[in-house]
Amino acid sequence: MTRVFSGIQPTGIPHLGNYLGAIRNWVALQADHECIFCLVDLHALTVWQNPADLREQTRQQTAVLLASGIDPAKHILFNQSAVSAHTRLGWIFNCVSRLGWLNRMTQFKDKAGKDRENHSAGLYVYPNLMAADILAYKAVRVPVGDDQRQHIELANDIAKKFNHDYGVEFFTEIEAFVPPQAARVMSLRDGSKKMSKSDASAQSRIDMTDDADTISLKIRRAKTDAEPLPSSLEGLEERPEARNLVGLYAVLAGLTPEQVLTQHGGEGFGPFKQALTDVMVAHIEPIAQETRRLLEDVPHLESVLRDGAVRASAIADPIVSEVERLVGFLK
Ligand code: TYM
Repeated sequence: MTRVFSGIQPTGIPHLGNYLGAIRNWVALQADHECIFCLVDLHALTVWQNPADLREQTRQQTAVLLASGIDPAKHILFNQSAVSAHTRLGWIFNCVSRLGWLNRMTQFKDKAGKDRENHSAGLYVYPNLMAADILAYKAVRVPVGDDQRQHIELANDIAKKFNHDYGVEFFTEIEAFVPPQAARVMSLRDGSKKMSKSDASAQSRIDMTDDADTISLKIRRAKTDAEPLPSSLEGLEERPEARNLVGLYAVLAGLTPEQVLTQHGGEGFGPFKQALTDVMVAHIEPIAQETRRLLEDVPHLESVLRDGAVRASAIADPIVSEVERLVGFLK
Protein backbone atom coordinates (compact mmCIF):
# COMPACT_ATOMS: atom_id res chain seq x y z
CA MET A 1 0.00 0.00 0.00
CA THR A 2 1.30 3.46 -0.88
CA ARG A 3 2.58 5.33 2.18
CA VAL A 4 1.23 8.83 2.82
CA PHE A 5 2.73 11.43 5.16
CA SER A 6 1.44 14.88 5.98
CA GLY A 7 1.65 17.44 8.76
CA ILE A 8 -0.02 20.49 10.24
CA GLN A 9 1.38 23.07 12.65
CA PRO A 10 -0.34 23.18 16.04
CA THR A 11 -0.28 26.97 16.08
CA GLY A 12 -4.00 27.66 16.25
CA ILE A 13 -7.31 26.08 15.42
CA PRO A 14 -7.35 24.52 11.93
CA HIS A 15 -9.30 26.75 9.54
CA LEU A 16 -11.37 26.02 6.46
CA GLY A 17 -8.27 26.36 4.23
CA ASN A 18 -6.45 23.67 6.22
CA TYR A 19 -9.54 21.50 6.06
CA LEU A 20 -10.31 21.83 2.34
CA GLY A 21 -6.68 22.04 1.19
CA ALA A 22 -5.38 19.18 3.33
CA ILE A 23 -7.35 17.48 6.12
CA ARG A 24 -10.32 16.46 3.98
CA ASN A 25 -7.93 14.75 1.57
CA TRP A 26 -6.08 13.05 4.43
CA VAL A 27 -9.38 11.54 5.51
CA ALA A 28 -10.17 10.33 1.97
CA LEU A 29 -6.71 8.81 1.42
CA GLN A 30 -7.17 6.59 4.47
CA ALA A 31 -9.41 4.28 2.41
CA ASP A 32 -6.58 2.87 0.32
CA HIS A 33 -3.27 4.18 1.68
CA GLU A 34 -1.08 3.62 4.72
CA CYS A 35 -1.28 7.06 6.35
CA ILE A 36 0.95 8.86 8.84
CA PHE A 37 -0.28 12.26 10.06
CA CYS A 38 1.75 14.53 12.27
CA LEU A 39 1.20 17.59 14.46
CA VAL A 40 4.45 19.33 13.66
CA ASP A 41 5.25 20.98 16.99
CA LEU A 42 8.98 21.27 16.14
CA HIS A 43 7.99 23.39 13.14
CA ALA A 44 5.65 25.48 15.30
CA LEU A 45 8.63 26.50 17.45
CA THR A 46 10.25 28.32 14.51
CA VAL A 47 8.20 31.33 15.63
CA TRP A 48 7.62 32.12 19.33
CA GLN A 49 5.03 29.91 21.04
CA ASN A 50 3.80 30.34 24.56
CA PRO A 51 4.43 26.84 26.09
CA ALA A 52 0.96 26.49 27.63
CA ASP A 53 -0.67 27.56 24.34
CA LEU A 54 1.43 25.10 22.34
CA ARG A 55 0.31 22.24 24.59
CA GLU A 56 -3.34 23.35 24.39
CA GLN A 57 -3.29 23.84 20.62
CA THR A 58 -1.69 20.43 20.10
CA ARG A 59 -4.62 18.87 21.99
CA GLN A 60 -7.16 21.01 20.12
CA GLN A 61 -5.76 20.07 16.74
CA THR A 62 -5.74 16.41 17.68
CA ALA A 63 -9.43 16.75 18.52
CA VAL A 64 -10.22 18.51 15.22
CA LEU A 65 -8.36 15.85 13.22
CA LEU A 66 -10.18 13.01 14.98
CA ALA A 67 -13.51 14.82 14.62
CA SER A 68 -12.82 15.26 10.89
CA GLY A 69 -12.44 11.51 10.46
CA ILE A 70 -8.77 10.63 10.99
CA ASP A 71 -8.77 7.04 12.24
CA PRO A 72 -5.91 6.44 14.70
CA ALA A 73 -6.72 2.74 14.98
CA LYS A 74 -5.97 2.05 11.31
CA HIS A 75 -3.49 4.88 10.69
CA ILE A 76 -0.95 6.87 12.69
CA LEU A 77 -1.46 10.27 14.35
CA PHE A 78 1.28 11.71 16.59
CA ASN A 79 3.20 14.85 17.52
CA GLN A 80 6.54 15.34 15.83
CA SER A 81 8.71 16.05 18.89
CA ALA A 82 7.84 12.61 20.30
CA VAL A 83 9.72 10.84 17.49
CA SER A 84 13.46 11.60 17.54
CA ALA A 85 13.97 10.34 13.96
CA HIS A 86 12.73 13.72 12.66
CA THR A 87 15.47 15.81 14.29
CA ARG A 88 18.17 13.20 13.59
CA LEU A 89 17.40 13.16 9.86
CA GLY A 90 16.65 16.90 9.89
CA TRP A 91 20.21 17.63 11.01
CA ILE A 92 21.70 15.41 8.29
CA PHE A 93 19.51 17.21 5.73
CA ASN A 94 20.73 20.59 7.05
CA CYS A 95 24.12 19.39 5.85
CA VAL A 96 22.87 18.09 2.47
CA SER A 97 20.62 21.05 1.56
CA ARG A 98 22.23 24.19 0.06
CA LEU A 99 21.87 27.79 1.21
CA GLY A 100 21.02 28.78 -2.36
CA TRP A 101 18.05 26.40 -2.32
CA LEU A 102 16.74 27.78 0.98
CA ASN A 103 17.17 31.35 -0.26
CA ARG A 104 14.59 30.65 -2.94
CA MET A 105 11.84 29.54 -0.53
CA THR A 106 8.97 31.98 -0.95
CA GLN A 107 7.32 30.99 2.32
CA PHE A 108 10.41 32.05 4.29
CA LYS A 109 10.44 35.37 2.43
CA ASP A 110 6.73 35.87 3.18
CA LYS A 111 7.05 34.98 6.86
CA ALA A 112 10.30 36.83 7.54
CA GLY A 113 9.31 39.91 5.53
CA LYS A 114 11.79 42.79 5.68
CA ASP A 115 12.91 41.94 9.21
CA ARG A 116 14.94 38.85 8.15
CA GLU A 117 17.78 39.28 10.66
CA ASN A 118 15.43 38.98 13.60
CA HIS A 119 13.91 35.61 12.73
CA SER A 120 14.98 32.27 14.14
CA ALA A 121 17.50 30.10 12.34
CA GLY A 122 14.83 27.40 12.63
CA LEU A 123 12.47 29.31 10.35
CA TYR A 124 15.17 29.37 7.69
CA VAL A 125 16.02 25.64 7.79
CA TYR A 126 12.38 24.63 8.27
CA PRO A 127 12.08 23.08 4.76
CA ASN A 128 14.98 20.71 5.55
CA LEU A 129 13.10 19.41 8.59
CA MET A 130 9.97 19.08 6.47
CA ALA A 131 11.93 16.92 3.99
CA ALA A 132 13.08 14.79 6.93
CA ASP A 133 9.48 14.41 8.16
CA ILE A 134 8.50 12.76 4.89
CA LEU A 135 11.66 10.86 4.06
CA ALA A 136 12.13 9.40 7.56
CA TYR A 137 9.18 7.19 6.58
CA LYS A 138 10.09 6.89 2.89
CA ALA A 139 6.55 8.17 2.28
CA VAL A 140 5.76 8.76 -1.39
CA ARG A 141 2.50 10.70 -1.42
CA VAL A 142 2.10 13.98 0.46
CA PRO A 143 -1.37 15.57 0.54
CA VAL A 144 -0.92 19.35 0.97
CA GLY A 145 -2.34 22.69 -0.12
CA ASP A 146 -0.76 24.63 -2.96
CA ASP A 147 1.50 26.68 -0.63
CA GLN A 148 3.60 23.59 0.20
CA ARG A 149 4.50 22.62 -3.39
CA GLN A 150 7.85 24.40 -3.30
CA HIS A 151 8.81 22.64 -0.06
CA ILE A 152 8.05 19.25 -1.63
CA GLU A 153 10.22 20.13 -4.63
CA LEU A 154 13.03 21.00 -2.23
CA ALA A 155 12.55 17.68 -0.41
CA ASN A 156 13.05 15.92 -3.76
CA ASP A 157 16.21 17.94 -4.41
CA ILE A 158 17.55 16.94 -1.00
CA ALA A 159 16.68 13.28 -1.59
CA LYS A 160 18.43 13.30 -4.98
CA LYS A 161 21.52 15.01 -3.63
CA PHE A 162 21.70 12.57 -0.74
CA ASN A 163 21.50 9.60 -3.15
CA HIS A 164 24.14 11.19 -5.38
CA ASP A 165 26.55 12.20 -2.60
CA TYR A 166 26.50 8.75 -0.97
CA GLY A 167 26.23 6.75 -4.20
CA VAL A 168 23.00 5.02 -3.21
CA GLU A 169 19.40 4.73 -4.43
CA PHE A 170 18.03 5.12 -0.92
CA PHE A 171 15.28 7.71 -1.30
CA THR A 172 12.69 7.69 -4.07
CA GLU A 173 10.68 10.57 -5.51
CA ILE A 174 7.96 12.20 -3.40
CA GLU A 175 4.71 13.30 -4.99
CA ALA A 176 2.76 16.36 -3.77
CA PHE A 177 -0.93 15.49 -3.77
CA VAL A 178 -2.67 18.86 -4.22
CA PRO A 179 -6.47 18.90 -4.57
CA PRO A 180 -7.93 20.16 -7.87
CA GLN A 181 -10.25 22.54 -5.97
CA ALA A 182 -9.63 24.64 -2.82
CA ALA A 183 -5.85 24.16 -2.93
CA ARG A 184 -5.51 27.84 -1.96
CA VAL A 185 -8.42 29.21 0.05
CA MET A 186 -8.11 32.98 0.36
CA SER A 187 -8.72 35.34 3.29
CA LEU A 188 -12.33 36.54 3.69
CA ARG A 189 -11.01 40.09 4.19
CA ASP A 190 -8.55 40.25 1.30
CA GLY A 191 -8.79 38.05 -1.80
CA SER A 192 -5.08 38.46 -2.54
CA LYS A 193 -3.95 36.82 0.74
CA LYS A 194 -4.36 33.15 1.64
CA MET A 195 -6.51 32.20 4.61
CA SER A 196 -4.02 31.81 7.45
CA LYS A 197 -3.88 30.96 11.16
CA SER A 198 -1.45 33.83 11.67
CA ASP A 199 -3.69 36.56 10.21
CA ALA A 200 -4.37 39.09 12.98
CA SER A 201 -8.04 39.33 11.96
CA ALA A 202 -10.22 36.43 13.14
CA GLN A 203 -12.78 37.67 10.57
CA SER A 204 -10.40 36.61 7.78
CA ARG A 205 -10.89 32.90 8.39
CA ILE A 206 -13.48 30.29 9.30
CA ASP A 207 -12.21 28.08 12.12
CA MET A 208 -13.26 24.45 12.19
CA THR A 209 -14.70 25.03 15.67
CA ASP A 210 -16.87 28.04 14.71
CA ASP A 211 -20.57 27.71 15.50
CA ALA A 212 -23.38 28.53 13.03
CA ASP A 213 -23.80 32.15 14.24
CA THR A 214 -20.10 32.89 13.97
CA ILE A 215 -19.91 31.40 10.47
CA SER A 216 -22.96 33.37 9.41
CA LEU A 217 -21.49 36.64 10.74
CA LYS A 218 -18.07 36.06 9.14
CA ILE A 219 -19.62 35.26 5.75
CA ARG A 220 -21.94 38.27 5.93
CA ARG A 221 -18.92 40.48 6.68
CA ALA A 222 -16.74 38.82 4.02
CA LYS A 223 -15.38 41.40 1.58
CA THR A 224 -17.13 41.50 -1.80
CA ASP A 225 -17.72 44.05 -4.53
CA ALA A 226 -20.97 45.74 -5.54
CA GLU A 227 -21.62 43.76 -8.77
CA PRO A 228 -23.94 40.73 -8.86
CA LEU A 229 -22.35 37.32 -9.59
CA PRO A 230 -21.42 36.80 -13.24
CA SER A 231 -22.78 33.83 -15.16
CA SER A 232 -19.39 32.60 -16.43
CA LEU A 233 -15.85 32.23 -15.05
CA GLU A 234 -14.39 35.03 -17.18
CA GLY A 235 -16.50 37.45 -15.17
CA LEU A 236 -14.54 36.52 -12.01
CA GLU A 237 -11.09 37.29 -13.38
CA GLU A 238 -10.62 40.68 -11.74
CA ARG A 239 -12.75 39.83 -8.68
CA PRO A 240 -10.59 37.78 -6.27
CA GLU A 241 -13.01 37.94 -3.31
CA ALA A 242 -15.99 36.84 -5.41
CA ARG A 243 -13.86 34.09 -6.99
CA ASN A 244 -12.90 32.81 -3.54
CA LEU A 245 -16.52 32.63 -2.33
CA VAL A 246 -17.64 30.89 -5.53
CA GLY A 247 -14.75 28.43 -5.16
CA LEU A 248 -15.72 27.70 -1.55
CA TYR A 249 -19.35 27.18 -2.43
CA ALA A 250 -18.38 24.87 -5.31
CA VAL A 251 -16.17 22.58 -3.24
CA LEU A 252 -18.59 22.45 -0.29
CA ALA A 253 -21.61 21.76 -2.51
CA GLY A 254 -19.74 19.22 -4.68
CA LEU A 255 -20.09 21.37 -7.82
CA THR A 256 -17.70 22.96 -10.31
CA PRO A 257 -17.37 26.78 -10.20
CA GLU A 258 -19.05 26.85 -13.65
CA GLN A 259 -22.08 25.01 -12.25
CA VAL A 260 -22.26 27.44 -9.31
CA LEU A 261 -22.35 30.37 -11.72
CA THR A 262 -25.00 28.71 -13.87
CA GLN A 263 -27.16 28.38 -10.75
CA HIS A 264 -26.36 31.73 -9.07
CA GLY A 265 -25.23 34.04 -11.92
CA GLY A 266 -27.05 37.38 -11.74
CA GLU A 267 -27.72 36.97 -8.01
CA GLY A 268 -26.57 39.63 -5.52
CA PHE A 269 -24.21 38.65 -2.69
CA GLY A 270 -26.98 38.73 -0.05
CA PRO A 271 -28.75 35.52 -1.14
CA PHE A 272 -25.51 33.89 -2.34
CA LYS A 273 -23.84 34.44 1.04
CA GLN A 274 -26.87 32.87 2.74
CA ALA A 275 -26.58 29.77 0.51
CA LEU A 276 -22.82 29.62 1.21
CA THR A 277 -23.39 29.91 4.96
CA ASP A 278 -25.89 27.03 4.88
CA VAL A 279 -23.57 24.65 3.06
CA MET A 280 -20.61 25.67 5.25
CA VAL A 281 -22.50 25.18 8.49
CA ALA A 282 -23.67 21.75 7.29
CA HIS A 283 -20.00 20.72 6.88
CA ILE A 284 -18.45 22.39 9.91
CA GLU A 285 -21.07 22.04 12.64
CA PRO A 286 -20.77 18.24 13.10
CA ILE A 287 -16.95 18.54 13.22
CA ALA A 288 -17.11 21.44 15.70
CA GLN A 289 -19.52 19.53 17.95
CA GLU A 290 -17.43 16.36 17.91
CA THR A 291 -14.29 18.43 18.61
CA ARG A 292 -15.94 19.91 21.73
CA ARG A 293 -16.91 16.42 22.89
CA LEU A 294 -13.40 15.03 22.35
CA LEU A 295 -11.82 17.94 24.22
CA GLU A 296 -13.63 16.80 27.36
CA ASP A 297 -11.35 13.74 27.47
CA VAL A 298 -7.80 15.10 27.33
CA PRO A 299 -6.19 11.84 28.63
CA HIS A 300 -7.72 10.01 25.65
CA LEU A 301 -6.35 12.59 23.18
CA GLU A 302 -2.89 12.35 24.71
CA SER A 303 -2.95 8.56 24.67
CA VAL A 304 -3.83 8.60 20.94
CA LEU A 305 -0.71 10.71 20.31
CA ARG A 306 1.55 8.57 22.53
CA ASP A 307 0.40 5.38 20.83
CA GLY A 308 0.89 7.00 17.41
CA ALA A 309 4.43 8.07 18.35
CA VAL A 310 5.41 4.52 19.29
CA ARG A 311 4.14 3.19 15.97
CA ALA A 312 5.71 6.06 14.00
CA SER A 313 9.09 5.42 15.67
CA ALA A 314 8.90 1.76 14.76
CA ILE A 315 8.78 2.77 11.06
CA ALA A 316 11.18 5.72 11.09
CA ASP A 317 13.93 4.46 13.44
CA PRO A 318 15.25 1.69 11.15
CA ILE A 319 15.17 4.03 8.12
CA VAL A 320 17.01 6.85 9.89
CA SER A 321 19.47 4.38 11.49
CA GLU A 322 20.33 3.18 8.00
CA VAL A 323 20.87 6.80 6.87
CA GLU A 324 23.18 7.32 9.86
CA ARG A 325 25.16 4.21 8.89
CA LEU A 326 25.37 5.40 5.25
CA VAL A 327 26.82 8.79 6.26
CA GLY A 328 29.46 7.10 8.42
CA PHE A 329 28.25 7.43 12.01
CA LEU A 330 29.62 4.68 14.28
CA LYS A 331 26.84 2.57 15.76
P1 TYM B 1 0.31 24.37 7.78
O1 TYM B 1 0.19 24.03 9.21
O2 TYM B 1 0.57 25.81 7.40
O3 TYM B 1 -0.97 23.93 6.98
C1 TYM B 1 -1.45 22.58 7.04
C2 TYM B 1 -2.00 22.18 5.68
O4 TYM B 1 -3.04 23.09 5.28
C3 TYM B 1 -2.76 23.61 3.98
N1 TYM B 1 -3.24 25.00 3.93
C4 TYM B 1 -4.10 25.47 3.02
N2 TYM B 1 -4.72 24.87 1.99
C5 TYM B 1 -5.57 25.65 1.25
N3 TYM B 1 -5.79 26.97 1.49
C6 TYM B 1 -5.18 27.60 2.53
N4 TYM B 1 -5.42 28.88 2.79
C7 TYM B 1 -4.29 26.84 3.34
N5 TYM B 1 -3.52 27.14 4.42
C8 TYM B 1 -2.89 26.00 4.76
C9 TYM B 1 -1.24 23.54 3.84
O5 TYM B 1 -0.85 23.53 2.49
C10 TYM B 1 -0.93 22.24 4.56
O6 TYM B 1 -1.10 21.14 3.70
N6 TYM B 1 4.93 23.01 6.39
C11 TYM B 1 3.58 22.51 6.66
C12 TYM B 1 3.52 21.41 7.69
C13 TYM B 1 4.44 20.27 7.45
C14 TYM B 1 4.28 19.24 6.49
C15 TYM B 1 5.40 18.36 6.70
C16 TYM B 1 3.34 18.98 5.50
C17 TYM B 1 5.56 20.00 8.19
N7 TYM B 1 6.15 18.83 7.72
C18 TYM B 1 5.57 17.24 5.89
C19 TYM B 1 3.52 17.87 4.70
C20 TYM B 1 4.62 17.00 4.89
C21 TYM B 1 2.74 23.68 7.17
O7 TYM B 1 3.24 24.65 7.69
O8 TYM B 1 1.41 23.45 7.07
